[in-house]
Amino acid sequence: MSTKTSESPAKAPVREAIPFLDLVTQHLELEGELLTVFRSALRAAAFVGGAEVAAFESEFAAFCTTSDAVGLGSGTDALRFAYLAVGVESGDEVITVPNTFIATTESISQAGASIKFVDVSEGTFTMDPSALESAITPRTVGIVPVHLYGQVADMDPIMRVAERHGLWVIEDAAQAHGARYRDKQAGSIGVLGAFSFYPGKNLGACGEAGAVVGSDRAFLDRVRKLREHGQAKKYFTTWKGTTGGWTQFRLRSFASSYDIFAIGTRPVGALRFGIGRRLPTYTKSNYPSRLPIRILSTICLWSRPSDAINSRPT
Ligand SMILES: Cc1ncc(COP(=O)(O)O)c(C=O)c1O
Repeated sequence: MSTKTSESPAKAPVREAIPFLDLVTQHLELEGELLTVFRSALRAAAFVGGAEVAAFESEFAAFCTTSDAVGLGSGTDALRFAYLAVGVESGDEVITVPNTFIATTESISQAGASIKFVDVSEGTFTMDPSALESAITPRTVGIVPVHLYGQVADMDPIMRVAERHGLWVIEDAAQAHGARYRDKQAGSIGVLGAFSFYPGKNLGACGEAGAVVGSDRAFLDRVRKLREHGQAKKYFTTWKGTTGGWTQFRLRSFASSYDIFAIGTRPVGALRFGIGRRLPTYTKSNYPSRLPIRILSTICLWSRPSDAINSRPT
């Protein structure tokens, strides 16, 4: 006797491979607006700096709760210019973590200092404050905590050690736009904060871009001079500088994404990467083997899709 029923066999689930990072889709949403501003920049031949850049700088400074922001060519330049602005020079030693992108350390070397590593905490993957004090030597001038994957490092004990030893703190906030540590915005806790707007970042430009934020006028003026060949005004060079400003093209694309970004404390990575609508497909090779633990009282804006959907508050 046949065992078949009249029901049709269960359908195999349809599997759709979703790219790990899909910048094309999110840019399509902005394309009309971007083309309009690109056209107006072309017609005005307004390529470098200008009113749009200045407007964005004040907007981003306000967002970071700092008094100023200086737009630069990349996050790497932001770090390097920040180190130079606080006076890093050959023979100095700067403390940072090894668990970061190479830009954190290459910019220290480019500024002329040597790198001293302290390890990260096992749970948070960010600087272990208890390892800090023993790493300080008479040559140490500053500390660079890295806010990895959108989580601000444990800044209170780091700032206490810095204050005790008279060291500056520059935050590598390249991955942490809008993240918070207790009641403070990423980038506003140390004397300067460095951000990257590389296209894949939570807040990405159409090209390389970065910024230094802070509230110390003298340091911010130096960063501004550094990007303008040491000039405070045209052809009056008062400091050894270089070039490294922002183009209108990069900025406007960036400003467009800012509308999406400015939603507040929601996980920006999730919004920008469309998580919640479609979950990416993970394979063993792109799934993190262990997820960071969130530091109490922080707001993390996980900077990777995988982190955004798997955040694990303690
Ligand atoms: C932690 C960290 N610091 C610095 C940078 C450098 O930024 P940029 O690529 O804009 O030079 C990055 C970029 O990936 C980063 O992740």
